[in-house]
Amino acid sequence: MAAKCRFFDTTLRDGEQTPGVSLKPAQKLSIATMLAEIGIDTVEAGSAAASEGEREAIRLIAGAGLSAEVATFVRALQLDIDYAAECGVDCVHLVVPASDLHIRAKMRKTREEVCTMAWDAVEYAKERGLVVELSGEDASRADPAFLAHLFRGGVERGADRLCFCDTVGIMTPEKIAEVVPGLLFAPLSIHCHDDLGFALANTFAALKAGASAAHVTVNGLGERAGNTPLEELVMAMEVLYGTKTGIRTEGLYHLATEVSKMTGVPLPVNKAIVGEMAFTHESGIHAHGVLREASTYEPIGPERVGRTRRILLGKHSGSASVRAALKELGYACDEVQLAEIVARVKSLGDEGRRITDADLMAIADSVLNLVREPVIRLRQVTVVSGSNVVPTASVTVTVNGEEVTCAATGNGPVDAAVEALRRSITGLGEIRLEDYRVDAISGGTDALVDVTVCLSRDGRMLTSRGARTDIIMGSVEAMVAGMNRLLEEQR
Ligand code: KIV
Ligand code: ZN
Repeated sequence: MAAKCRFFDTTLRDGEQTPGVSLKPAQKLSIATMLAEIGIDTVEAGSAAASEGEREAIRLIAGAGLSAEVATFVRALQLDIDYAAECGVDCVHLVVPASDLHIRAKMRKTREEVCTMAWDAVEYAKERGLVVELSGEDASRADPAFLAHLFRGGVERGADRLCFCDTVGIMTPEKIAEVVPGLLFAPLSIHCHDDLGFALANTFAALKAGASAAHVTVNGLGERAGNTPLEELVMAMEVLYGTKTGIRTEGLYHLATEVSKMTGVPLPVNKAIVGEMAFTHESGIHAHGVLREASTYEPIGPERVGRTRRILLGKHSGSASVRAALKELGYACDEVQLAEIVARVKSLGDEGRRITDADLMAIADSVLNLVREPVIRLRQVTVVSGSNVVPTASVTVTVNGEEVTCAATGNGPVDAAVEALRRSITGLGEIRLEDYRVDAISGGTDALVDVTVCLSRDGRMLTSRGARTDIIMGSVEAMVAGMNRLLEEQR
């Protein structure tokens, strides 16, 4: 593998082509900045010919003084290249069809016509002072001799780099190893799609066969099944092949969660490196092992990608993890009490419950006979929402016995209710909502919804839940339970 692999990130172009994803210019700038900060070489900021909004985003990114090269997708058209140059990018990702299927069926052109268009566009982009990465679209189904001809001609006219696109994700590592060595007329990039789950393996095969750059996206976003995930490629190179990628890997998780929030594409819980469960342990044997020596059940430490290890409690938990969780929450108990707490945790887990910190505290309080008067008691919640109405909520609670009523507006009824609740306890210091998730437990509109929140106060984090058929009440209940626990802990 080349000593230095270039990372060409296309989250903002191919990633944004994920069905349903559309980013605002400020969001694109924020993602581009994070990408540059972790050490990405090229950020493909979008497609300059697509729309005025897209050009605004590309201009913003190109003018932001990022350490990364800024590229934009262009077709072999002077108009596209003019747009790119006006946006102030460093590089054009010039994409031309390479397979007969794309040349004839999609473009209704001949091979010769495509070559002429591609080569003229290369010359034109070079005259405009742009770096050119010439991509063969659907290269995997192209006649290899024609692809080589197209690429060689492009390089003769000034293309700086080339790119092999496995547009529909049909390559295998073996086929990649065969075809790549015949295309190294200039530094070659590999652009893979994950339709058959081979994007990462094919990217590796190309890098081994002589390619020197990989096209990637954060969280593997991209058309259909997506592209090669940046975080997986980087960590596999570092951990499995001992390659120094130059990427600041501690920033990977933050980047992944930010991109997930901005795009609205959730991270699968079991996704490698960045999924919620990637560094979480529940089963007794695993959790016990990890608490003694983390490497027993972890290939890398979570801190390497900016994460922390989590021990989740459930029906598989053993006494070691329950004891560790209790210790963290400030409880001391003897072996008999511990056994009872473990039994109750398992029985809640058997009901299919995800056990939050607040659940464990409630169990421990009951087993240890600790009677606590909650700081906050919920009295009343009223929410107004609908078309042409700003969602508004009013919440009445007692705080240490005194009644308080607060109202707030929000982006939606849940947001309004949570805000009203937060306002009603401002006198007790700031409690921040770090994470909020909703799971429907059954499938209809009458489904029981399970709301889990993660709250923090003075650096202390805690999870709690509320389960109701009413999502607003489920959310408020989860908040109140968590707030009480944070406040009680302090007390
Ligand atoms: O997958 C692909 O072929 C592409 C090109 C447009 C570069 O994304
Ligand atoms: Zn693609």
